[in-house]
Amino acid sequence: MYICLDFIQMKDLVREARRLRLDFPILEKLHPSGHPLIYLDNAATAQKPRAVLSALHQFLSEFNANIHRGIHWLSQKATALYEGARESVAEFIGAASAEEIVFVRGATEGINLIANGLKRVHFQPGGEILLTQAEHHANIVPWQLIAEEIPIRLRPIPLQSDGSFDWEAFYQALTPQTQLIALTAMSNVLGTEIPIPDIAQVARTRGIPLLVDACQAVVHRPIEVKAWGVDFLVFSGHKLYGPTGIGVVYMRRPWGDIFPPYQGGGDMIRQVSWTRTSFAPPPAKFEAGTPAIAEAVALAEAIKYLQRTVGWDFIQAYESYLTDYAEEQLCSIPNLKLYGTARPRGCLWSFTLEDIHPHDVGTFLDQAGIAVRVGHHCAQPLMDFLQVPATIRASFAFYNLPEEIDRLVLALKESVKFFSKIEGEVKLS
Ligand code: ALA
Repeated sequence: MYICLDFIQMKDLVREARRLRLDFPILEKLHPSGHPLIYLDNAATAQKPRAVLSALHQFLSEFNANIHRGIHWLSQKATALYEGARESVAEFIGAASAEEIVFVRGATEGINLIANGLKRVHFQPGGEILLTQAEHHANIVPWQLIAEEIPIRLRPIPLQSDGSFDWEAFYQALTPQTQLIALTAMSNVLGTEIPIPDIAQVARTRGIPLLVDACQAVVHRPIEVKAWGVDFLVFSGHKLYGPTGIGVVYMRRPWGDIFPPYQGGGDMIRQVSWTRTSFAPPPAKFEAGTPAIAEAVALAEAIKYLQRTVGWDFIQAYESYLTDYAEEQLCSIPNLKLYGTARPRGCLWSFTLEDIHPHDVGTFLDQAGIAVRVGHHCAQPLMDFLQVPATIRASFAFYNLPEEIDRLVLALKESVKFFSKIEGEVKLS
């Protein structure tokens, strides 16, 4: 999305970002080098606002009890908070009902859960799963594990050279053998958006289930699962300013009724005997054992913070400004190559710098107090497609400031000087 901002609007946005930033205590920390910490690794995990930290603390210190099992008031209070969190998530992503929301440990567990269900009730030998070249390993490996049991195959769709979705390649890959379309909504490496609502329409017309990995997209864009008509959607709480150890699976009805349980244990049963067990209806059927109760409650608080304190209008306008500003500044560095420049996009840039190894750049930046991710970003097939072993990725949140981008760019320029001096010395010796 391009948003044209005048100078005044831009200054207002930056002022608001400065104000919101105060909600995140970790951002006040100094790096051990003495530099202020500049956290540009938000696509890996986001920092937590005080509201989320307090929700965790408050639940554990005031309301902690197991859920669904106790008749005492504390258990009932904990149950109400946990089920309230489910309602918040359902509303946040536009689900038809809270029964379509399953809490899991994270998006990875979520995709494994769905893969297990589809293996048991859906995949037929010879079937194909369409994915993009930009999938995270979490949306590749679970299907490969299934393919060891049922002869199905993964069919990656190439992207355009600017990282955008290639409709022609998609239609070519779509065949009567396609039994699932499983796509990221926003690449964690390129930041480019995949047009999920349009793809959902095609999938629906052809009766092919669609799974969406929304780990990155959910942080930057409103999600509307029912309106889009997707079958499954997953995301992790920790990238959405919530705690680790909690994630969400959306399963459109009637998938939850059709799928067998993923794990067996307490809280997912209706009746157990030595000879036979019957199961609770979804979502309980998929939540064996004691779940991450405090984390679910804190995730709901993160959602509330995002919706009420920050707001989508601010996120979209400010992140769009930061994205453009970062692109402009990064492109001022000679021999810096950006990967995937297409719009619409999320708030991150992946790049390489001269022929300096990304890990060397990452270590240099760390010494300047700047946290970025370097490596394959859990997307090795995409690295092969881009023909690089690794990239440097700077990923931003609404609390990052333009001066942090300036500091990044300065440190990158210094790293070029540093590594060319070393190279010169090596050549001389
Ligand atoms: N999936 C996370 C990332 O992209 C960890 O960094």
